[in-house]
Amino acid sequence: MAMAMATAKLVLLMVLVAGSSCGGSAWRGPLSLLRTLPTTTAAQSVEAAAERLKEDLSSAASSASASSSLIHALRPLMGSAGDLGLRAGVPCDSWRLAVETYNKRDWTTVPGSCEGYVGHYMLGGHYRRDSRVVVDEAIAYAEGLKLAGNGKEVWVFDIDETSLSNLPYYATHGFGTKPYNATSFNEYVLEGSAPVLPESQRLFKKLISLGIKPVFLTGRTEDQRAITVTNLRRQGYSGWMDLLLKPVGLKATAIAYKSGERQKLQDAGYVIVGNIGDQWSDILGAPEGARTFKLPDPLYYIG
Ligand SMILES: *[C@@H]1O[C@H](CO)[C@@H](O)[C@H](O)[C@H]1NC(C)=O
Ligand SMILES: [Mg+2]
Repeated sequence: MAMAMATAKLVLLMVLVAGSSCGGSAWRGPLSLLRTLPTTTAAQSVEAAAERLKEDLSSAASSASASSSLIHALRPLMGSAGDLGLRAGVPCDSWRLAVETYNKRDWTTVPGSCEGYVGHYMLGGHYRRDSRVVVDEAIAYAEGLKLAGNGKEVWVFDIDETSLSNLPYYATHGFGTKPYNATSFNEYVLEGSAPVLPESQRLFKKLISLGIKPVFLTGRTEDQRAITVTNLRRQGYSGWMDLLLKPVGLKATAIAYKSGERQKLQDAGYVIVGNIGDQWSDILGAPEGARTFKLPDPLYYIG
């Protein structure tokens, strides 16, 4: 019995390892870059851990301590001793958790020793899986809403790292370990080539089918409207109610600017039933929206 369970867990691990790539051509391009990273690949680490696990399982089969042996074998793979999370003395998984929980704020760059970790997180299946959990929750919430039927319910979407991904840029600029370069980043934005974030688009389309109107609210500036519309359309977005861009030269924090725009929506009679973004500054500041959803983003911080 214990052996059967252990085998099932091993199979699950193998599936996780094998399933770490994700669909969509947009996600495949930068993978070749990842192979050049100066770290042991995540796949190698996981394969090694799975191999250790298999050895442990066969030796444990004859003993009564199969389950404790299994837990011990899993520890290097999943736990705090994992060589996936700990690199050069910086526990990158703990760093990422602190970022996502908003314990860590006002940071400027990803720790240099976490470049490989963040690269693996973003390009492997983990980022996609984390995003999927967020969107599954958002869709379940949206489907449970009782709509007034007057067409006034809206859902606010951030754009960068929420609706579109700038991963092709960050993959060639150190995965957030280098200081922000407005010149080169804006050059990238003006290409209009940012790929879709498929989980967010799934939410976007579901909301439209439910009768909830998406509104884009972005820190991109008004002078980037045309290329932003082009990029969104190229990536399969259509049917949004509004696209709100920041006035050029506006000096305001992201929280002040975005909450101010949401207030205007509310003043115009709209009901913000949901709000999704990758930064805490997308979802903080009244009116936040009836419910907020935070997508993962270990690449950069916007206050
Ligand atoms: C920022 O990007 C521009 C355009 O690619 C480049 O010329 C410049 O050297 C970069 N600045 C820094 C500090 O790396
Ligand atoms: Mg964003």
